[in-house]
Amino acid sequence: MAGIYLHIPFCKGKCAYCDFYSVGNIKLKEVFIEAICKEIELQKDYLKGESIQTIYFGGGTPSLLSPQELEKIIEQIRSYFDVGKRNEITLEANPDDLTKEYLKAIKKIGINRLSVGIQSFNNDDLRRMKRKHSADQAIRTVRYAQEQGFKNISIDLLYGLPDLNLQQWEKNIEQALNLNIQHISAYHLTIEPKTLFYKYYQNGNLNLPPEDESLDQFGKLIEKTEQKGFLHYEISNFAKDGFLSLHNTNYWRGIKYLGLGPSAHSYNLTSRHWNIQNLRGYLDEIFKGKIPCEEENLSKNEKFNDYLITSLRTMWGLNTEKIEHEFGIDFKKHIEKKSSRFLKENFLIKSGNNFKLTKKGIFISDHIILSFLKD
Ligand SMILES: C[S@@+](CC[C@H](N)C(=O)[O-])C[C@H]1O[C@@H](n2cnc3c(N)ncnc32)[C@H](O)[C@@H]1O
Ligand code: SF4
Repeated sequence: MAGIYLHIPFCKGKCAYCDFYSVGNIKLKEVFIEAICKEIELQKDYLKGESIQTIYFGGGTPSLLSPQELEKIIEQIRSYFDVGKRNEITLEANPDDLTKEYLKAIKKIGINRLSVGIQSFNNDDLRRMKRKHSADQAIRTVRYAQEQGFKNISIDLLYGLPDLNLQQWEKNIEQALNLNIQHISAYHLTIEPKTLFYKYYQNGNLNLPPEDESLDQFGKLIEKTEQKGFLHYEISNFAKDGFLSLHNTNYWRGIKYLGLGPSAHSYNLTSRHWNIQNLRGYLDEIFKGKIPCEEENLSKNEKFNDYLITSLRTMWGLNTEKIEHEFGIDFKKHIEKKSSRFLKENFLIKSGNNFKLTKKGIFISDHIILSFLKD
């Protein structure tokens, strides 16, 4: 089983924190749809006949595509790949695009999971972030989606935001939990170069919470979601039983995926490819019948590091039997040596052949992962 990711590189405007690749001009949307359909054909052998379990429209803003455009892409995938019956087809969507009619139409074409970018239920936060929707609109959108029969809805939230205190964050979580959704992705804000927040930050005009306050916000998130029966299955991801994101879980488990569209990444167990981050360049090359990507063959250490970074962030942790089998006994010994301090101090726990972060360890996950990496 494998997955397909499609990067839809259009946004109505740039949010103050975001550096994902997108352009504001949607004039090229039609020609882009042609190109991505062409890329599907060009890449038909990349997954070597494996059937497709998950399709993920990410971006950018995939909800800027009409239901007909989305359907055209899905049909094109179906004509070149074997899409399994029990599939997960996710659309990342912005609340301002989700009308009742739109939701009804995309449900019909087979989209069965929504990931709605809400970010915050506080209008001051939303304005600061340059979002195009209000908190009420976001809440309404989720209700509409439920009325249309969507039974697998995720929302994105951000914490560690400028001027966000613990009480406001707690209100945000409570609001999210009141929506009766199945999944929450909550990310700590990263200040990315080339964003508006970065500029404010450099000028000393961004009032970010101190680190201990951010950690308290993370702790509150874990506590509140757990009380409501959510499974904390990856550092930033929480799901009701049976609603873990299959697409992302497959990434973390090292399953093959094909990424289509500008800036999309692909992985086929031996090498990693990434398409160029330039819409015009992408279109030019695709219409010449070429895939505009760079390739990196992964060394053993790089593959090992990839496995560590992804697996340790999940509730399953890393598996030393798998490490011995895929990388050799020295790599297993490396883990055993490096983990002893963290096990003693209760940051890691060993169960069978798995090493997992404890509740205490989750708060210093970056530090632990870094100390395991091979040069
Ligand atoms: C690439 S965006 C696409 C989603 C959709 N366009 C939207 O705006 O809702 C996916 C998610 O990444 C998260 N994200 C983007 N920039 C981030 C940053 N600088 N730090 C942390 N999370 C970020 C946001 O929560 C966002 O919803
Ligand atoms: S957060 Fe979403 S809408 Fe905002 S710029 Fe990034 S991809 Fe576009």
